Amino acid sequence: MGKSVNCLHLLSLNFLLLFSNYSFAKEGMWLPNLLGHVNEAEMKDLGMKISADDIYSINHTSLKDAVVQFGGGCTGELISSQSLLLTNHHCGFSQIQSLSTLEKNYIKDGYWAKSFEEELPCPGLTATFIIEIRNVSEQILPFISDTMSEMKRQSVIKLITDNLEKAAISGTHYKAFTKSFYQGNEFYLFITEVFTDIRFVGVAPKAIGNFGSDTDNWMWPRHTGDFSLFRIYAGKDNHPADYSKENKPFSPRYFLPINISGIKEGDFAMIMGFPGKTNEYLPAEGLEMVYSQTNADKVRIREQRLKIWKEAMGTNDTIQLNYSAKYRTLANYYKKWSLENQNLRKHESILKRKGFDKQFLEWTLADSMRRAEFGNLLNDFSEIYSKGKVFGHALDYTSESLMGIELLNYVLSFKKLIELRRNIHADEKEVEVQLEKTKKMVNGFFKSYSKSTDKKVCFSMLKLSDENMSDSLRPDILVRIKNDFSGDFMKYTEELYSKTIFLKQEKLLSMLNNFGSVEIKKLTKDPAWKLAINIQDFQKEKIQPSYNAFVQGSAKLLRKYMEGILQMDTVKQFYPDANSTLRVTYGSIQGMNPRDGVIYKWQTNLDGLIEKGNLNDDDFQVPEKLKELYATRNFGQYESNGSVPLAFLTSTQTTGGNSGSPVLNDKGELIGTSFDRASEGVMSDYVFDEKLTRTISLDIRFTLFIIEKLGGADRLIQEMKIIKDK
Ligand code: ARG
Ligand code: GLU
Repeated sequence: MGKSVNCLHLLSLNFLLLFSNYSFAKEGMWLPNLLGHVNEAEMKDLGMKISADDIYSINHTSLKDAVVQFGGGCTGELISSQSLLLTNHHCGFSQIQSLSTLEKNYIKDGYWAKSFEEELPCPGLTATFIIEIRNVSEQILPFISDTMSEMKRQSVIKLITDNLEKAAISGTHYKAFTKSFYQGNEFYLFITEVFTDIRFVGVAPKAIGNFGSDTDNWMWPRHTGDFSLFRIYAGKDNHPADYSKENKPFSPRYFLPINISGIKEGDFAMIMGFPGKTNEYLPAEGLEMVYSQTNADKVRIREQRLKIWKEAMGTNDTIQLNYSAKYRTLANYYKKWSLENQNLRKHESILKRKGFDKQFLEWTLADSMRRAEFGNLLNDFSEIYSKGKVFGHALDYTSESLMGIELLNYVLSFKKLIELRRNIHADEKEVEVQLEKTKKMVNGFFKSYSKSTDKKVCFSMLKLSDENMSDSLRPDILVRIKNDFSGDFMKYTEELYSKTIFLKQEKLLSMLNNFGSVEIKKLTKDPAWKLAINIQDFQKEKIQPSYNAFVQGSAKLLRKYMEGILQMDTVKQFYPDANSTLRVTYGSIQGMNPRDGVIYKWQTNLDGLIEKGNLNDDDFQVPEKLKELYATRNFGQYESNGSVPLAFLTSTQTTGGNSGSPVLNDKGELIGTSFDRASEGVMSDYVFDEKLTRTISLDIRFTLFIIEKLGGADRLIQEMKIIKDK
């Protein structure tokens, strides 16, 4: 213990030496309801002028009332009394794409609703407010124990939380859920208000919203105008209501004032949002599995799929159009995982974690009670992760590789129809509905499918899986194909794609028009069906049970490990891993020194966008109108130093799900929208490095400049509360 305290002193001394002259960096994704106890003093020391109570309160309005979870995986913030909602371009992308047609291509050309009537409903989209967060650990922990089976534990927790949730929202229109924190050592109940009538208000052309595309993704310096605008609508009573023409803009409890007076390096900044998932408290063995199996396998597989898609997209415009969104989605995490592994390697993170584990072990062995409780944990981890790797590997090679073949996924979506039709007791109406759905699915599939491309993917994935899956854990169809075709996967693939009826649209549709047992027989004898089903069954029967057992078993060990870590250091404040709940992270506006000889400035400007635009690269096209605004210096009130500020870096801790989160200044006013992290610090989902981890955000002045000057959407600017003085 004494040793680790010394270590801590040394560390903080180093830390001070490194950062004392200009700024600070802060690790942590904190629960907003605990800021008052845990963080407020430090936040104020760092320059925050408001109180924890201004950020989160259940007694009066607070900042949290202006922040929503946007859909399932992003964050948004309200910027007007009529619920104008700001989020990222890439968060609104799929909604905007489905509202677009060839004639009205909002993605390509942008869109600015000129009135409320022109704001377009987005079926399925939700915006979720957090009304209250309650610590319910005391109501749960006394009823569960380490000796319980995990199943029993889960069912006890569910029973208790079901009741707590029911009671918490009785008589209201709110919803509630409970989540575990610190790997199951604490529990919090969330009361939420979920709006379901969300409308699309405006977006810049993709050339701005996705400027730099995959080339610049995860990179600094950045010039992506990654924002889009929506609005929340409510029923007459200002409560959530499903879409209706009669609905009115929701009148929110709070919205964020916008400060355009300028920011500088060292300024306090905080970000509120819904980070999805982090794993900061893994033992070295766990980190090793991420590095050598999870990330490595996925990167290797995606690399091949992406390469084939990219080649096809480059030679054919239709494929380019149909595959670019799919490509972007796949490429985003491909790049993230490869960067993560590069970072972990470069910074010897696993070795460092081993050092921590050694300390942990010494701590457990220094006391007989601790030894009994935690002494065996690291051995247990070794054992469970060595199993986990085997099944994780097999799982990735089925789900990411073999099921990455589009044909197979598509074929499996006939399963429900076939099962229904085979069931003599099935409701005829239900069958009809499923038939119609399937026909629609078929037509949709062919609209954006390239057979020649997918054929290449199929060959490549079969070969890759054959080379990499262990003999004892592979779908038997792989073995059969190899035998029947003397190892020639190309020949098999050629035959598969020319024979399968699933790729003969007309024939297939006419079969669906008269779908009986003959047709079912034909489909289930089809080679594509056989391949898909064999792989799916293999996954379900041979991998999933063992993999699930690994997940459950490791969760139990991680819970214990976390408990130990919390006991080992009672001085340090630990923040819980991200779990898609509302968090606050704070730090400063700050550049970085990514490697020897290189310094990243904290800010980019419109000049840089224009400069990149001159590169004549598809990812860097600048709309004529933006060039014109630039040439005539038509920057309005958003000008700073002869340009418009575009993006900036903060020393905060964010991750996927934080996209669209408000970046707030010392007074809680909006200065930007976060949308990415700089590549050098992307390992922060596992290991946070103060020197290297930076959030990338869009400067609110660029957002407003585009809305006003490029979009001409003055009516939106007028709704906002814009502050120009310090
Ligand atoms: N990297 C950011 C995030 O994880 C942006 C992704 C969207 N952009 C893209 N080029 N795929 O969501
Ligand atoms: N762009 C990511 C998102 O959609 C955030 C980037 C990150 O992981 O930091 O949430």
